[in-house]
Amino acid sequence: MQTRVLTGITTTGTPHLGNYVGAIRPAVAASRRADVDAFYFMADYHALIKSDDPARIERSRLEIAATWLAAGLDPDRVTFYRQSDIPEIPELTWFLTCVTAKGLLNRAHAYKAAVDKNAAAGEDPDAGVTAGLYMYPVLMAADILAFDANKVPVGRDQIQHIEMARDIAQRFNHTYGREFFVLPEVVIEEQVATLPGLDGRKMSKSYDNTIPLFAGGQKQLRESIMRIVTDSRGPDEPKDPDSSSLFTIFRAFASEAESAAFRQALLDGIGWGEAKQVLFERIEADVAPMRERYEALMARPAQIEERLREGAQKARAIATPKLAELRDAIGLRAIVAPAAGVSQPERRAAAKADKLPRFASFRDPDGSFRFRLFSAEGEELLLSAPFADPKAAGALQKRIRTLGAPAAVVQLSSLALVLELDGEAVASSPEYADEQARDDALARLREALERLAAQE
Ligand code: TRP
Repeated sequence: MQTRVLTGITTTGTPHLGNYVGAIRPAVAASRRADVDAFYFMADYHALIKSDDPARIERSRLEIAATWLAAGLDPDRVTFYRQSDIPEIPELTWFLTCVTAKGLLNRAHAYKAAVDKNAAAGEDPDAGVTAGLYMYPVLMAADILAFDANKVPVGRDQIQHIEMARDIAQRFNHTYGREFFVLPEVVIEEQVATLPGLDGRKMSKSYDNTIPLFAGGQKQLRESIMRIVTDSRGPDEPKDPDSSSLFTIFRAFASEAESAAFRQALLDGIGWGEAKQVLFERIEADVAPMRERYEALMARPAQIEERLREGAQKARAIATPKLAELRDAIGLRAIVAPAAGVSQPERRAAAKADKLPRFASFRDPDGSFRFRLFSAEGEELLLSAPFADPKAAGALQKRIRTLGAPAAVVQLSSLALVLELDGEAVASSPEYADEQARDDALARLREALERLAAQE
């Protein structure tokens, strides 16, 4: 089974070495794992909360997309997209907003920090606070829940946001009586290095102590490295590797053997200027080929745009049916659709009482009528074929309800299951990761059919 790993990249600022080592490099490595289904996106709606400068927003999106692609992110394996290309995200944000307690948002760290700052300055508590900042956690929950992400790798400062996404998902599931959303888990990468910046503090845009990854080219990289603060030990005096930023940064790029050699050179009293040159050459060996790709991409922005549009298409293939299901569940249904399935209070009662498998009807964007069958636990088991006539879809549901497991003809179609009635394929399961997973799902499907029939 693949784990869906999703994370958002804020599109403000220009990527620096700390971003590369702390976020980009590990995320690209993770995306290559066979057991990971990676969703990486540029959180440009979130960026609007921090910046109202259109040129900056535009520039930053381009640079960041080019950086991730140049660093080896393969958009054929990863779903790589822009948040603002997915209209389902703001739509879901509103659905979630309507079940989110205002009090929960009052407790968000970023909002509270703004209020505390205002209080200290004797200002109105909400001075300068936009509703966008206040709603930030709900938008982030929608980013995650629209795709049923299992794992969300983030920095420590984002843990509370993931907890809120879980709270909001649970609230929604409870209100509407079914496990609509996977509850996401936070992943904190303990292993990845945090790089010191030019002044020895953590490398961060807010300290203005960064070494740019690509901006300014090789020349800028070298100049920045030459500006890293060192102690005043002269040439030939032994240097302490463990208190030296140069060594910490070096280690983030080098092998064990290279690091051991550099450590020894410092102990042997290599001059700081020469040590910086060694560090520059080591980083440049990794960065140069990426920079070349970066420059080629930046010269052809249309290529980047095309990649991102393809990514949005892949992402929407998941989010669109998900939102259709949610719209249906909350009562935003076509007026002409049959009253298929059960009413909301009934559904709630059923969910609470004896947990039955259930159907959810929806309309495809092309207007046809479909439904899904979910297990009592909320797993999607089947998706019906499309029907032009809602009555035909309703009649099929009725037949599936009364079918029972022994009478069900289920065909295997490579990694999916296909339900047949009268020799016709009428519904199919999702694609499973392997045959074992598919066969396990078949058992669950049979169990669900059995339970439905027992109810009739
Ligand atoms: N808020 C995150 C950050 O500042 C970026 C982000 C937006 C995100 N949406 C997300 C991260 C969804 C993970 C999942 O780093």
